[in-house]
Amino acid sequence: MALDHPLQIGAVCVRPGLLLAPMEDVSEHPFRLVCRQLGADMVYTEFVNAEGLLREDPDGPRRSSHKLDFTAAERPLGIQIYGASELSMEEATRIASEREPDLIDINCGCWVSNVALRGAGAGLLRDLPQMRQVVRRVRAATHLPVTVKTRLGWDAASIQIVEVAKMLQDEGVQALAVHCRTRAQGHKGDVDYSWIPRIKAAVEIPVILNGDIISPQSARAAFDSTGCDAVMIGRAAIRHPWLFREIRHHLETGELLDEPTPLERAELCLHHLQLSIEHSGERYGLISMRRHYAGYFRGVRGAAQLRGELCQFRELAPLEARLRQLATRPDTSEAAVAVTAIS
Ligand SMILES: Cc1cc2nc3c(=O)[nH]c(=O)nc-3n(C[C@H](O)[C@H](O)[C@H](O)COP(=O)(O)O)c2cc1C
Repeated sequence: MALDHPLQIGAVCVRPGLLLAPMEDVSEHPFRLVCRQLGADMVYTEFVNAEGLLREDPDGPRRSSHKLDFTAAERPLGIQIYGASELSMEEATRIASEREPDLIDINCGCWVSNVALRGAGAGLLRDLPQMRQVVRRVRAATHLPVTVKTRLGWDAASIQIVEVAKMLQDEGVQALAVHCRTRAQGHKGDVDYSWIPRIKAAVEIPVILNGDIISPQSARAAFDSTGCDAVMIGRAAIRHPWLFREIRHHLETGELLDEPTPLERAELCLHHLQLSIEHSGERYGLISMRRHYAGYFRGVRGAAQLRGELCQFRELAPLEARLRQLATRPDTSEAAVAVTAIS
């Protein structure tokens, strides 16, 4: 089913539709590139605060506008923005559109209190007229396709995702990604995919399923049981960035690929580290890699010690040497990694 029809959003046309989720401090240029290289069809920036972008001092560190940076190799790419005020969202859309991403995505799903309780992110699910205003202004401010990422509803008692989907379609939104939990659930509790077919029956725009896709089998089951147009993967991509190619292979052949070898793990980690340093410089590049070591060496014997060891490095050269040692040792094997890690 996943391979039958592509995900089409404006000029973007991908198949089977395996998307890397926007994730703060994670979906940065280096990780997006790694995931694209491993078979993600499309990627998103982490969310960018509209007010933050507007307030930014041109002579200051430019943290928000740095988040808009991307390279051609990452395309197709969506820039995700968030905010409660339609005016700042409109202006932020203009700024983001100058970068010419493939689409602008509006975050209507962030559950974190200092976003949602201020009326942005999932807070917009409690004020649908305001969500409509935001979407309208964003649409008017860009020539690019506009998409929305949201949740089922604020809480279990107020799920109105089908009405939301219809409203968004009426406002010209070109695709909808749904994290199949409520705001009240945060990232915990069961996902409820049963809403996806109901949304699909109500609208014609593509519907992207998000939440707990963790394996090739769960991706296939999600496509088959819901008729979704794409799946969006967050945490499982951090744990295992190879997941994209594994899902693709499974959908195409019904087979499961072998786990990456310790050698492949070390090589990819080294590649990611190099991208990270190029992107953020040595200090922040090393810090931002720390959240990825557990994923790269998961399942390898001695992984916990190895992760601890890698996180201790404060300088690039010895860390690179350590990863190179792991990647080039002809006898690199689970045992060798484990032994070296402990020694
Ligand atoms: C560390 C982290 C950061 C996140 N940041 C964002 C974000 O910037 N924008 C957004 O729409 N969702 C964000 N999310 C939510 C994910 O995009 C996704 O909806 C959620 O993790 C559920 O998908 P999963 O089960 O595949 O992880 C974040 C999630 C995590 C774990």
